[in-house]
Amino acid sequence: MSPPASRSPAASRPMIQVEDLHKTFGDHKVLTGINLTVPAGSTCVILGGSGSGKTVLMKHMIGLLKPDSGKVIIDGEDIVPMGVEALQKVRNTFGMVFQAAALFDSMTVFENVAFPLREHTKDPEDVIRQKVRARLDLMGLKRDVEDRFPADLSGGMRKRVGLARAIVMDPKVVLYDEPTTGLDPITTDYVDEMILAAQRELGVTSVVISHDISSAFNVADQIAFLSKGVIVANGTPEQLRESEHPAVKVFLETWFGKN
Ligand SMILES: Nc1ncnc2c1ncn2[C@@H]1O[C@H](COP(=O)(O)OP(=O)(O)O)[C@@H](O)[C@H]1O
Ligand SMILES: [Mg+2]
Repeated sequence: MSPPASRSPAASRPMIQVEDLHKTFGDHKVLTGINLTVPAGSTCVILGGSGSGKTVLMKHMIGLLKPDSGKVIIDGEDIVPMGVEALQKVRNTFGMVFQAAALFDSMTVFENVAFPLREHTKDPEDVIRQKVRARLDLMGLKRDVEDRFPADLSGGMRKRVGLARAIVMDPKVVLYDEPTTGLDPITTDYVDEMILAAQRELGVTSVVISHDISSAFNVADQIAFLSKGVIVANGTPEQLRESEHPAVKVFLETWFGKN
């Protein structure tokens, strides 16, 4: 399949290029030659069964894991040979959203979202306030949420605070690892909307790991299907739906069978 055309006009140059990536743990070959290109400003969903290596692949994209061989080129630069400092610079241009929102329980919503700015910038207080509020607004969170603590929020709201924090530094890339797992359908739709809003309003490049097909079809410009260490199908949602690869067919049939 040929790479998909993106909804986003900015999607011309590649933002992420993974080339022939291999990773083994002990004698367990998890990734055995991954090739994947994500154009700037587009959203790529990585689908695959549990344990297929989706999280391992994503961790390579941000340099949390080093491959046995292969390249991970972010905005033109291979991050694999980079040392801690250079890597940290690249990481600062990324936002991350994990399955658990991982908010700081002892901090208010405002302080949670402001945290990356306080850590990594010298922004004065008024700029911080303005940036935090803009991101909370984008996530549909009202002013009165600012001073609340994570424990007092619903799961869906916590998730949105996590998304606001992930995009507060104006990242080039946002990585989402199973952002909707464990959420009810309405909250899932809301998170999908937020992913699309971040793409539309901020032009971010997004990589989303999911095993929720309807969510994947909602947000993806491109879906890459991971099976047995390689990407066995890669294309638009429509192209994936027509894939003849047995692993993809089983996955889709199982899903559409039960939904
Ligand atoms: N740090 C690690 N050490 C050893 N094995 C690992 C490590 N991280 C992941 N694995 C193994 O790699 C495989 C893929 O894991 P993962 O990427 O988390 O799967 P998933 O597709 O569900 O996200 C699993 O078998 C997992 O046990
Ligand atoms: Mg995972």
